[in-house]
Amino acid sequence: MAAAEQDVVKVLCGKAKDVTFFKDHIEILFSDRITANNKEKADILPKKGYYNCEISKLLFNVLESFDVSTHMKQLVCVPEGEGIMCAKSLNMIPLEVIVRNLACGSFCKRYGIKNKTILAQPIVEFCVKDDDLGDPFISEDVAVALEYATKLQIRQVKYLALRVNEILKTYFTLRLLILVDFKLEFGVDGSSQIILADEISPDTIRVWSAVTGESHDKDVYRNSITFEPEKVIARYAEVLVRLKEDPVLENVHFNLTYPIVIFSGSESDNQIVEKVTFELKKYQFPFVSKVVSAHRNPEKLRKFVKQTQPDAKVYICIAGLSAALPGVVSAQVADLKIPVIAVPVASPPMNGMDALLSAVQMPPGVPNLVVGLNNGRNAAIAAIRILTV
Ligand code: C5P
Repeated sequence: MAAAEQDVVKVLCGKAKDVTFFKDHIEILFSDRITANNKEKADILPKKGYYNCEISKLLFNVLESFDVSTHMKQLVCVPEGEGIMCAKSLNMIPLEVIVRNLACGSFCKRYGIKNKTILAQPIVEFCVKDDDLGDPFISEDVAVALEYATKLQIRQVKYLALRVNEILKTYFTLRLLILVDFKLEFGVDGSSQIILADEISPDTIRVWSAVTGESHDKDVYRNSITFEPEKVIARYAEVLVRLKEDPVLENVHFNLTYPIVIFSGSESDNQIVEKVTFELKKYQFPFVSKVVSAHRNPEKLRKFVKQTQPDAKVYICIAGLSAALPGVVSAQVADLKIPVIAVPVASPPMNGMDALLSAVQMPPGVPNLVVGLNNGRNAAIAAIRILTV
């Protein structure tokens, strides 16, 4: 990549990658350096940079196809065989975000748990990105108190990390790989969007073969007494081969979780739905949206509400005229104590007064939270606030 030297703002050399900062982008060189246990072990593993860069590119592309924004710039020509990624400049959040599906590594030591214990639910942990301190574990409250991230950012990062996990776990399983745990890093762009950054490679994930149970990641290096570069690189290379496989995707269900569910009474409400989704996308909150009328399809609505449990944490219901949708959903989730935000829609002949009163005048004990007529944006903002208090 030819770039005039004077365009370079600075160069940072990390343990395994070198980052060159330009005015409007960065270039990440994935080196062949490999280290473990905070540099207690350090070696050169030929071709590791190439494999890590290729695997990261592939996985970032997969995630982008599921609307997860990554720092990778798509339209960049990288010379074949070089481990270089061109990426967006971000203001990095100085936290390492660890997601775990199975107990392994430091988690087992910390809690005295047997290796490979299946966790009842995936977990997200935070560590401070600081080699001198040994990347210590940090609670969400401490991270906010020390201003490493805002409470909203912590919540967004958690949702994104779990979403990345759901997507990658399924993607790996289909290729006979088990995604055990991994580390992510996030940054903030000029418009305050949280963007997935850094890399996702065998250096930063634990991945086992579903067939042999063997590790295909840095543990092969970390846990061996003698350094066998051929053995380590062969395991990395196999991850790339497997991830490039194209299994039949028919009937595959990506078990994605959606904390926000949007229901609208009719296709004619789509403009209001778009106001909601525009705002949610801006903050990268995962949502699912369905058109279903409480009056015309009460059974279908009941089924949808059931399907969205237990993941849904807030419902946004958009409806005009007698606007039963928010009230009916409120009634159905009253026992679960899940908030329902109603967006009354203005339509003739009463220009929304009908929908507004219908949404507001709920019986005591079964509240709708009502935003202004057609105000999808406020509904989205209110939902995000509910999820981040
Ligand atoms: O060491 P620990 O078990 O906490 O690591 C969990 C996951 O996060 C592993 O996949 C590991 O490779 C990754 N990790 C990382 N960089 C760190 C710490 C952990 O890539 N500094």
